[in-house]
Amino acid sequence: MQNLTRLIKKISDLWIKSQAPTQKLTNIKKIDRFLILLICVIISMITSYEYVTKPIQNFNFIISVIINFFEILTCCGVLVYVSKKENTSINSRQIFLLIGLLLIIQILKINLKTISPLSIIVPATLIISQGMGTITALSWVSIALINWPNSSSVMNEYLLLITFISSCIVAILGGRIRSRAQLLQVSILVPLGAFIGQYFFLGIDNNDLYNFNFQNSISKQGDIISDTFLLATLMLLAIILMPILESIFGLVTKARLLELADQEKPLLRRLSIEAPGTFEHTLLLCGLAEEATRMISGNVDLVRAGALYHDIGKLHAPNWFIENQNGSNNPHDELDNPLESAKILQAHVDKGIQIARKYRLPKPVANFIPEHQGTLKMGYFLFKAKEKDKNISENNFKYKGPIPQSKETAILMLADGCEAALRAMDINATDKEALEIISKIINNRIKDGQLLDSNFSKGELYLIKISFLNVWKRVRHRRIQYPTERNNSFS
Ligand SMILES: [Fe+2]
Ligand SMILES: [Fe+2]
Repeated sequence: MQNLTRLIKKISDLWIKSQAPTQKLTNIKKIDRFLILLICVIISMITSYEYVTKPIQNFNFIISVIINFFEILTCCGVLVYVSKKENTSINSRQIFLLIGLLLIIQILKINLKTISPLSIIVPATLIISQGMGTITALSWVSIALINWPNSSSVMNEYLLLITFISSCIVAILGGRIRSRAQLLQVSILVPLGAFIGQYFFLGIDNNDLYNFNFQNSISKQGDIISDTFLLATLMLLAIILMPILESIFGLVTKARLLELADQEKPLLRRLSIEAPGTFEHTLLLCGLAEEATRMISGNVDLVRAGALYHDIGKLHAPNWFIENQNGSNNPHDELDNPLESAKILQAHVDKGIQIARKYRLPKPVANFIPEHQGTLKMGYFLFKAKEKDKNISENNFKYKGPIPQSKETAILMLADGCEAALRAMDINATDKEALEIISKIINNRIKDGQLLDSNFSKGELYLIKISFLNVWKRVRHRRIQYPTERNNSFS
């Protein structure tokens, strides 16, 4: 009996663990929540519009209108929930975009009854999958297509099927694509594929070849050449508008993350010139964090951008950080005031947030700035302060937090802790010694409660340790001296 209870508990624990993420969802302001609800109600009303315009037939008819209204309202609610689950730091502007695109589709459907769903649903899916991920895009497609068929204009079910398949392909690819060039390829290949699909399932009217014009794509139903042309044009337009949408709605596309990671960006150039030590630390940290994130299948592009900008706040006073002192005098020694030194350390986080705001870094990237320090103690200055005054409060020597809220920011915190220790390690140290140091640092962070919100499994923590070790081995290999000219008998 006891074994059975244990087994049930084990299964329930596994079930709870599989229901990720357990992170807190973003809190949306009351006014924004009200506006989002209002748009959802409008979408539901538009969908029920076809019913409402008909004369009331019987009681069952009224019930079906009410059911339809609440069905669409619930769908919108589910869509918002899914998007918040997939993007834990989603903001209200992004939800407005998601719901707004659904509203635009509904308005177009009512006003241009002959427009093909293919040419308007697929480009919108591309925007959503790029900015908010594949799962949100797939949910959006399902809801947009549930809303589409209506009683007055019966669409060809093959067209809806082709729209569904094309949208799903765009949703899946859009969430993975990393460059604008690949986006361009998709915007050519998907319309081409949709055209072939329509040709086989719907056939082609020979007159269409002679009557081809842009007007046909909107005013004439079933003209597959004009529909394909409209689809390709709108997809290209979506790609052109993407950078504008990124800055208006704060979308973080993979292409944007890659652009941010460009080391020729003015902010990163400033870091490399004004704080070269911090820049070097950042580059090694990037290697550690990227490798670990890849191992646990996290967002590598996000962690790379986050790592590059995490210590950007050190620009306010580079010389106060040991990596930039280059053997010269340590100003903290001259200051001889641990409390003031702790304030300077905390300032690298506060100033970093200010710089991130000034340079309009996306929120998920800016989150790395406070979260990489979490609520860690500034051990050295706390020790110095305790030497002077035993009763001094530890809280004055703790970073303000918050602790890492995602796996990516938590990996950066762990890499930040291990970087200096691994850099300082003897070149002849064994793998076992390096792994011991990595494990010790990670265990200290766990004991300190820094990883409470990042939900790592034991397996993931093991993979992180192994990946840090692998990067260290790579770095050590680079540091091993190659034969010099004098004893170089081969080339
Ligand atoms: Fe830092
Ligand atoms: Fe750092």
